[in-house]
Amino acid sequence: MKALVLSGGKGTRLRPLTFTCAKQLIPVANKPVLGYVLDQVAATKIKKVGIITAHETGHFVEEYVADGSAWNMEASYIPQEPLGLAHAVKTARKFLGQDSFVMCLGDNVTGQGLESFVKRFKNEHLDALIILKEVDNPSAFGIAKLDDEGNIIRLVEKPKTSIGSKLAIIGTYLFSNKVHEAIERIKPSWRGELEITDAIQEMINMGFTVKAEILRSWWLDTGKKDDILSANAKILDEYIEADVKGKVVNSTIDGRVQVAPDSQIINSTVRGPCVIGKDVVVENSFIGPYTSIGNGSRVCNSNIEYCVVQECVTITDIERLEDSLIGKNAKVSRNQRCRTIKLHVGDYSELQV
Ligand code: G1P
Repeated sequence: MKALVLSGGKGTRLRPLTFTCAKQLIPVANKPVLGYVLDQVAATKIKKVGIITAHETGHFVEEYVADGSAWNMEASYIPQEPLGLAHAVKTARKFLGQDSFVMCLGDNVTGQGLESFVKRFKNEHLDALIILKEVDNPSAFGIAKLDDEGNIIRLVEKPKTSIGSKLAIIGTYLFSNKVHEAIERIKPSWRGELEITDAIQEMINMGFTVKAEILRSWWLDTGKKDDILSANAKILDEYIEADVKGKVVNSTIDGRVQVAPDSQIINSTVRGPCVIGKDVVVENSFIGPYTSIGNGSRVCNSNIEYCVVQECVTITDIERLEDSLIGKNAKVSRNQRCRTIKLHVGDYSELQV
């Protein structure tokens, strides 16, 4: 069995961060979202992973994953035009060969591993297994309608009117090589994409064995700022253990807090769950729960809570910073002399002042 991890797309909803980074590389708890996806793939003992990339951001993804050896896998890169998930499978046809595969979206994280799905897929000799989770906004996802026994009756990509179900397809799929026959038969949707949802519906029409399973854990699609902050909170909540390696001077560390080596916490309070990267200085500040601070950042005379602060950021004299996602090398400071706001902000930035 192989794995196909989708790391392309434009990331328009995360601009300006995605001008200089692939959306799958935005960190939560100081690690790119894609890293968690690859951890889950690696845990299934799959050894060959194909990574679908976009022309604009593929080199960032290649730099991060490299040959895949950090996950004990062999990584291949497959550039693709953003023409749909089924188009991505079609583009990866040569890499996939005749093998079955698990397909994951590189910007979707869940609290549940893939092992049980792989086991079921193999044991029951399925042609497709899709994973579902109830959502409040079914028009934003591929939706599956099941009968009372849990068999799939119908699948619709982003239904404009209700199909009587709120079960979204979460972006984790397992396929046999039969999926390629179905993809050959489908046509692009109204949004001009070859939809994987249509391919799975076609597999059902063709009489292949397609099953669905409901995810037991949380699931987050980190396509927008608030979802990144929620994923950061979930990961900090579930995975972070107290581990203070840096220097703590005249400060209070409360709860599950990680401070990496070569960092300094001076005259400050840090309240977990929270992760502070390498070579960070926090001085005369309060770092509140659900905050991640990237390597090389400086926080001085400021209060921060529920934020993702990336690498080499400087935050100075900010009374209260909440619910914020700050890109690499950004500088945020208070203008002490007058009440005027002075900005030097990238295209598509969002500021609430
Ligand atoms: C894609 C799929 C959709 C699925 C969603 C999960 O949507 O087309 O069926 O529910 O991922 O995140 P897209 O990201 O293309 O809007």
